Amino acid sequence: MRRFGLAACVALVGLLGQAGLAQQPAPGHPDAPDGQALFTGQQPLPAHLRNQDIALPPVATRCVNCHLVRAPDKQDGRLAAQSLGPVLDAAFLLTSQPRHGGPATAYAEGSFCRVLRTSVAPSDIVIAQAMPQFDIADAQCQALWHYLTAPRAHAKPQP
Ligand code: HEC
Repeated sequence: MRRFGLAACVALVGLLGQAGLAQQPAPGHPDAPDGQALFTGQQPLPAHLRNQDIALPPVATRCVNCHLVRAPDKQDGRLAAQSLGPVLDAAFLLTSQPRHGGPATAYAEGSFCRVLRTSVAPSDIVIAQAMPQFDIADAQCQALWHYLTAPRAHAKPQP
């Protein structure tokens, strides 16, 4: 009986492993998670508002609707005014700073994925409901994180 249990367990792990591989195409494959495509909604992400079961239409869940990566020119008030949520870039995410009226925290990949899925910030504060909760796979979240925290060649130096 014990041997059977072990064999079943090994078989299950094998199956899960295959399923996992099937969900995560190799980098470069058209279906591979692409941080920029996820950010702009070219690769849509299912999402809903906190405490609501209704799936939001894909066009409403695009990060770029509410977050700018970095205004190419900080003087451009029009671009700044469009950002409902904070501008998401390496400086914002990786610098330890007070957030949401709580203590200073920085984001890491794990806490970034957690806030996307659960609305809970690194300080354990629950962020505003306007920010949707995403049904996002680990590989997609990782791709987004790398895209947002990568140094940007086009970004102008900060004053
Ligand atoms: C409908 C608008 C909207 C969309 C779509 C949206 N966000 Fe947000 N997001 C917000 C708002 C508003 C906040 C600020 C919440 C707060 O400060 O309480 C926020 C906060 C965040 C934070 C936390 C920032 C902090 O201050 O701690 C992260 C990270 C984030 N969003 C990432 C994303 C990503 C990645 C996507 C796309 C997958 C996305 N958001 C899509 C509106 C949106």
